[in-house]
Amino acid sequence: MRIGTLGAGTVAQAIARHALASGHQVTLSNRRGPAALAELIEELGPGATAATPAQAASAELVVLAVAWPDIPATVGGLPHWDGRVVIDATNQFLSPPPSPRIAELGDLTGSEYVASLLPGARVVKAFNTLHGRYIAADPVHHAGRQLLFLAGDDPAAKAQVTEMAAAWGFAPVDLGSLREGGRLMQLGGPLSGLHALKQH
Ligand SMILES: NC(=O)c1ccc[n+]([C@@H]2O[C@H](COP(=O)([O-])OP(=O)(O)OC[C@H]3O[C@@H](n4cnc5c(N)ncnc54)[C@H](OP(=O)(O)O)[C@@H]3O)[C@@H](O)[C@H]2O)c1
Repeated sequence: MRIGTLGAGTVAQAIARHALASGHQVTLSNRRGPAALAELIEELGPGATAATPAQAASAELVVLAVAWPDIPATVGGLPHWDGRVVIDATNQFLSPPPSPRIAELGDLTGSEYVASLLPGARVVKAFNTLHGRYIAADPVHHAGRQLLFLAGDDPAAKAQVTEMAAAWGFAPVDLGSLREGGRLMQLGGPLSGLHALKQH
């Protein structure tokens, strides 16, 4: 499968490495343009390419991994999503730690807000609860597999992400809808930053 990433930083690279290791192709994109990713693409090796956000967004499965304030500009000009699956790995930091400011969205969860900006996309919230180094690490540990929480409103999309992440070694845990599961997973929720293992 071809996976596209919107953003090519810590999270996108960590997910890309798992995907490439299991034989997927990954098209990464950033703000500064594909040329700025040449060294990274070389390092990632066969199967990795750099492209524009519009090209990356045309992949069968797309990972959204940009800072919260950059989301509208990143996705604003993209064509209709036409049912494609988007993994929303973002956290709603208006400014990051050590002086965090968190976006206030009223009733909406972060991923419901993200989904509202992605017409026609099937959004699955995943990876946001883990620090980048735990996304990047081998999820298979002596004592068990790293839990990967996910939430979404489309069962087939969640099944696709579940299957893919399980193949990488994670232990996916479906928490329900973007409203209910998303609230548990987002900043301030009880599962945000929770690193836990599932017994084999
Ligand atoms: N880092 C973590 O441990 C972690 C863990 C879980 C979730 N998250 C969340 O995941 C998201 C990404 O975090 P990160 O640490 O991976 O960020 P990062 O390393 O700062 O990378 C951000 C990426 O977004 C790109 N970008 C910014 N504006 C863009 C645009 N308009 N179009 C296309 N690409 C654009 C940047 O491109 P340029 O380099 O060209 O500017 C960069 O490649 C954030 O929402 C964060 O809260 C982070």
